[in-house]
Amino acid sequence: MTSRITKAVIPAAGLGTRFLPATKAMPKEMLPVVDKPAIQYVVEEAVEAGLTDVLMVTGRNKNALENHFDRVAELEASLEAKGDTVKLAKVNESTDLADMHYVRQGDPLGLGHAVLRARMHVGQEPFAVLLGDDIIDARDTLLTRMLDEQVARDASIVALLEVDPDSIHLYGAAAVEPTDEPDVVRITGMVEKPAKEVAPSNYAVIGRYVLKPEVFEILEHTEPGKGGEIQLTDALMTMANDVEGTGGVFGVIFRGRRYDTGDKLDYIKAVIQLAADRADLGPELRPWLVEYAAGLDTV
Ligand code: G1P
Repeated sequence: MTSRITKAVIPAAGLGTRFLPATKAMPKEMLPVVDKPAIQYVVEEAVEAGLTDVLMVTGRNKNALENHFDRVAELEASLEAKGDTVKLAKVNESTDLADMHYVRQGDPLGLGHAVLRARMHVGQEPFAVLLGDDIIDARDTLLTRMLDEQVARDASIVALLEVDPDSIHLYGAAAVEPTDEPDVVRITGMVEKPAKEVAPSNYAVIGRYVLKPEVFEILEHTEPGKGGEIQLTDALMTMANDVEGTGGVFGVIFRGRRYDTGDKLDYIKAVIQLAADRADLGPELRPWLVEYAAGLDTV
């Protein structure tokens, strides 16, 4: 099935305080995962799924993001003069990727507020939201699956991952019921970052959404929730109840490879996993890792 959705929204206004001092003068989205900024993986994923119109919701100190997806004439000229086509191609990779747009969030009032900043740009079409902390392996086509479900069901779609109950407090958690498709569930409730004891399930919302534009009107009227922030989860809860005739919310259960770059330990794991998988680095890195790990104490 081909989808007609073309717009992706990427919230990228967060301060990245978990990575200080690295993020004192550099956006956390620019942290390299092997040799590419984390944000480039996310834009590549959107483009691979056919979403070539990308709106990034940024803030102060995020100029490096705009620069990364723009031309850099001096560097291009110098590489061209040297005839270094390999490096030139690496420079141009991010420039030619997508039709990039930027809007600033202003006050950091939460993920729901960041998504609301996309209203003017998105207009009356369904659109995707991709959170930069999650990298989905390029071999797993989660977003395409979600886009197809959005068109088929005319509903909003979130990506769900079954997590250890001990980690559910880090995510939005969904109450679900089965549908006629084994990897799709209907969402009947949602709670932002619940304690393990009150979580409706251990299905966690991971950072991929395909939303109907009605979400904007709902976000306009969503009161601050968990942490005093306007939560996307709360607006989705309203949509799940279908009170406004929005078609409800469905979850696509993801069983593929996901790399979390949102905190230090997960970031380090992501870099190791992705590097070990690479054809240019893996053959040397893997045996070294095995040898290194053999000499490690687990405590
Ligand atoms: C956000 C959402 C949360 C979701 C998570 C996925 O939280 O609010 O519902 O589960 O992203 O990564 P954050 O991680 O930005 O605090």
